[in-house]
Amino acid sequence: MLKHFTFDSVILGGGGSGLTTAIQLSQEGQNVAVISKVFPTRSHTVAAQGGIAAALANVSDDKWLWHMYDTVKGSDYLGDQDAIEYMCKNAAEAIYKLEHMGMPFDRNDDGRIYQRPFGGMTKNFGESLISRTCAVADRTGHAMLHTLYQKNIELNTRFFVEWIGLDLIQDTDGAVLGIVALELKSGDLAIFHAKNTIFATGGAGRIFQASTNAYINTGDGLGMAARANIALEDMEFWQFHPTGILNVGVLITEGVRGEGGYLVNSNGERFMSKYAPKAKDLASRDVVSRAIATEVKEGRGIGQNKDGVFLTLSHLGESLINEKLPGIRETAIKFANVDPITDPIPVVPTVHYMMGGIPTNLDGQVRDTANNSIVDGLYAVGECACVSVHGANRLGSNSLLDLVVFGRAAGLNIIKNSKNKKHKALPKNAAEFTLNRLEKLDQNSDGENPKVVGDELRKIMQDHCGVFRFPELLEKGLSEIQLIRKKTNNLEIKDKSKVFNTARTEALELSNLIEVAEATMNAAFARQESRGAHSRFDFPKRDDQNWLKHSLYNPIEKTMSFRPVNLKPLTVESFPLKKRVY
Ligand code: FUM
Repeated sequence: MLKHFTFDSVILGGGGSGLTTAIQLSQEGQNVAVISKVFPTRSHTVAAQGGIAAALANVSDDKWLWHMYDTVKGSDYLGDQDAIEYMCKNAAEAIYKLEHMGMPFDRNDDGRIYQRPFGGMTKNFGESLISRTCAVADRTGHAMLHTLYQKNIELNTRFFVEWIGLDLIQDTDGAVLGIVALELKSGDLAIFHAKNTIFATGGAGRIFQASTNAYINTGDGLGMAARANIALEDMEFWQFHPTGILNVGVLITEGVRGEGGYLVNSNGERFMSKYAPKAKDLASRDVVSRAIATEVKEGRGIGQNKDGVFLTLSHLGESLINEKLPGIRETAIKFANVDPITDPIPVVPTVHYMMGGIPTNLDGQVRDTANNSIVDGLYAVGECACVSVHGANRLGSNSLLDLVVFGRAAGLNIIKNSKNKKHKALPKNAAEFTLNRLEKLDQNSDGENPKVVGDELRKIMQDHCGVFRFPELLEKGLSEIQLIRKKTNNLEIKDKSKVFNTARTEALELSNLIEVAEATMNAAFARQESRGAHSRFDFPKRDDQNWLKHSLYNPIEKTMSFRPVNLKPLTVESFPLKKRVY
């Protein structure tokens, strides 16, 4: 049965960015739906640990311009400086809005919001590390998500829980009129007709075998965009978080190093001073991850396979660990069988964050890069979007900030444009494309098993597109991903039932994962330089002459194109290109 809903705005994704946009719209009286695969407070934002950056100057002097400098440098100069200025300048206000909504930030003795040091966050343009990351112990995302959800309840935002978005609905001019989504509980399909459609679908770390990401992070918005021939931007840039638990992947927050924890190799050496003499363990994540990978490659790894390093924090003492890092203590005990009060945690760089995504402007409007225009009616916010503020490498604690700053910016733009905006008429065949996809999947009796193909995809990405990228491996990975693409075009599910059919969901998610994986491999193969998180063995240097540009993967033609980086901020002077050292 095809259901039909009509809203002013439909938001796909119930994490930090989607809920922020929803608040903005609901409080202006819009009729808003948030569609989420899981209960909103289980969205992946809940897993964010260490904090949210803003130059509040609660611990020492700080300025948003210093934060901007750090973010430009952290991005290895690939971040657009107008977007970075917008984010850093609006950060303090975003924090106070959260505080006023009731977010229970930790406090200093004087009652002001507690801030801790984080990687690459400095004072006075790189002079020394600074405490800029506002935290709720090591459960900041959890606190934020509950705060935003409660506010939405107060504002009567309508939630559709355990629904998966499948495809965009567009008219012949390409304007977006809503989405087709499937209710997991009933297996029913519905059209969500809307004046504005907002993707807030989060990341896609599940294209890799080892990831800090939740199982729900399957790039659904990116898959839907790719099927609608919207180019994906900067997909070669994947962040490896230096401290995922070895062999498990669960995140151990950078806040551990912010509080004074440090990394050691199998010789018991603190090795980070070799790679980042000034910032050491609090260099940016790409630098720390490469340092760990190098220690391991050169034989100084720990563990049974000598493929990790230790994160030591016992010197911080029981009371600090229990007060500021209780979550990671529990995680380490449960998943690594060590109590960090007495023993170090075995860790390894683990895929954590996608810097690229669906191209947008500062207002969250999705850009039609081929025609240098915007896609009418479509927005993207949060990790699924590429604004681009993070460029080639995101600084820790800038992600939660991105969610709330750009989630709000999209809401403001929608309100601004909503006067006299009417629903455009749906085409007669609005759900036909999706119905055909589902029918093909249901009718196939001689196809590939989605679970097996998904595992193959993840292994290819893990083996061929890691912290260091080698030409032969990339080339092989690219051809292997093309074989996976063929298999994903021929999936079969044995269980054809409708109610909570997880096999069907997995197959539908795989159709999104393949779009993300293909874009990633093509972009990684194309970019012949090393910048930020993209480290090519055959092109070890950053090449500003030829590669100071964003990549765009065009999913239907399967070609690459490029656009220049915006080096011009909104109101301040540009930060000129410099060698990036920490
Ligand atoms: O390490 C962390 O707590 C992660 C934070 C982030 O990715 O921003």
